[in-house]
Amino acid sequence: MIERRGFVIHQEFLDRAAQESLVEDLRGVLAQAPLVRPITPRGRPMSVRMSAAGTYGWITDHKGYRYSETHPDGQPWPPIPDAVRAIWDAVSGSDREPECCLINWYGEGARMGLHQDRDEADFGQPVVSVSLGDEGLFRMGNVERGGKTESVWLKSGDVVVMGGEARLRHHGVDRIRFGSSTLLPDGGRINLTLRVVT
Ligand code: SIN
Ligand code: FE2
Repeated sequence: MIERRGFVIHQEFLDRAAQESLVEDLRGVLAQAPLVRPITPRGRPMSVRMSAAGTYGWITDHKGYRYSETHPDGQPWPPIPDAVRAIWDAVSGSDREPECCLINWYGEGARMGLHQDRDEADFGQPVVSVSLGDEGLFRMGNVERGGKTESVWLKSGDVVVMGGEARLRHHGVDRIRFGSSTLLPDGGRINLTLRVVT
């Protein structure tokens, strides 16, 4: 376990068998709630594809960023798989249950700009992130915009807890090393973020 600016990084938290089993669970979720390419409120398509499980999913379109109880296709989100809840229980230190498991899929060239996670009601609750597949360069900044940042490569099976002083820090993914992992047969990176929304 290492800590950078309050981000607690559990390296190799999941072994290969656990990662493979999680990917199977996620295939089931995505069969019910297909990945979509979200559009920012300003009309720009994001480079990641997204879906979710749980009571809420996080979505964005021309109306803005928000949590929604339904997929853009109108269906409720599938339940959060038990193995994903178990990760939350093991690392979050929270007595609440996650209400959203956001699924971000990074294909070749996909990235996520520096941002804060701030659409949730209670910033006392952490966000827990699970990385699967190709390595991603995770950048950690400050609560305020700008200033110095530092980065770490997140590998398949790594779990990050963004709580306490890290909860409102800017963070993002500059790039992935496409094809660096054999977990996903067609390459790419999956990141799950677990959040308490209400
Ligand atoms: C996010 O902050 O939403 C994603 C972080 C990651 O992909 O590691
Ligand atoms: Fe985030």
